[in-house]
Amino acid sequence: MSERTRGRTGRTVGENEDRSVPVLVRKLRKEFDGLIAVDDLEMMISPGLLYGLIGPNGSGKTTAIKMFVGLLRPSGGEAYVLGEKVPGRENVQRVGYMPQETAVYPDLTIHENMELFAELYSVSREDFERREKLLLDVIDLKARKDSLVSQLSGGMKHRTSLACTLIHDPELLFLDEPTVGVDPELRVGFWEYFGNLKARGKTVVLTTHYMDEAVRCDVVGMMRAGRLIAEGAPKDLMARANASDLESAFMFFSRGDNA
Ligand SMILES: Nc1ncnc2c1ncn2[C@@H]1O[C@H](COP(=O)(O)OP(=O)(O)O)[C@@H](O)[C@H]1O
Ligand SMILES: [Mg+2]
Repeated sequence: MSERTRGRTGRTVGENEDRSVPVLVRKLRKEFDGLIAVDDLEMMISPGLLYGLIGPNGSGKTTAIKMFVGLLRPSGGEAYVLGEKVPGRENVQRVGYMPQETAVYPDLTIHENMELFAELYSVSREDFERREKLLLDVIDLKARKDSLVSQLSGGMKHRTSLACTLIHDPELLFLDEPTVGVDPELRVGFWEYFGNLKARGKTVVLTTHYMDEAVRCDVVGMMRAGRLIAEGAPKDLMARANASDLESAFMFFSRGDNA
């Protein structure tokens, strides 16, 4: 037996600790005072995918992602992100997280926020300048880069938050509702950029309420009541559900008559 498969408990360690696997989740659980937000979640996300997590409000998407990035401690089960059991600190540089609630500093300008995030992640000056230019284009805020974030609209703050998440060019991205409050034209630009990240071998895990976005993902995971009720390429999910759109497919899988 190889070194990698010799686990103390007999389980296969190699698979869990494979540093190229973005997300591997076994019976992951989170309870808040008796409320089960994530219910024995089982999940594996392969590298290089655009993975869309969809499901109604309260289905546990944000809670799951917060556990993946180490902001919440699981009540049970385990999650491995890039081969490290979470919560852990090893992969900080390799992971980017954009929270659902915008997380930027209101008393700093857009430029200063991006600079601060770049410093936190030890991005070189040269890389910072190049990426800042590119990202300001993507979020369409070049003209406002010296405006204080407190003076921006909610959508603009959200876009700034995305740019800050991307400034260290991480290989794995968790984007929690990155396109909420972003107008349709700019959403197109965001998706072009997500495609560009994927083309550079990155893995993007995002949540969305927009079904027209979900169909653009390579793989969609449908969450309901803290569990993954179906997962697959959008086309395959629709075919399995005999549905013409993902919303109807979601309803099909929700009914649980898909055995
Ligand atoms: N910090 C918390 N304390 C108590 N309940 C929470 C907390 N965070 C989330 N929840 C609850 O957990 C469930 C899942 O929420 P969430 O993960 O935000 O779902 P989603 O992102 O899919 O909308 C909801 O019922 C929500 O109210
Ligand atoms: Mg959420």
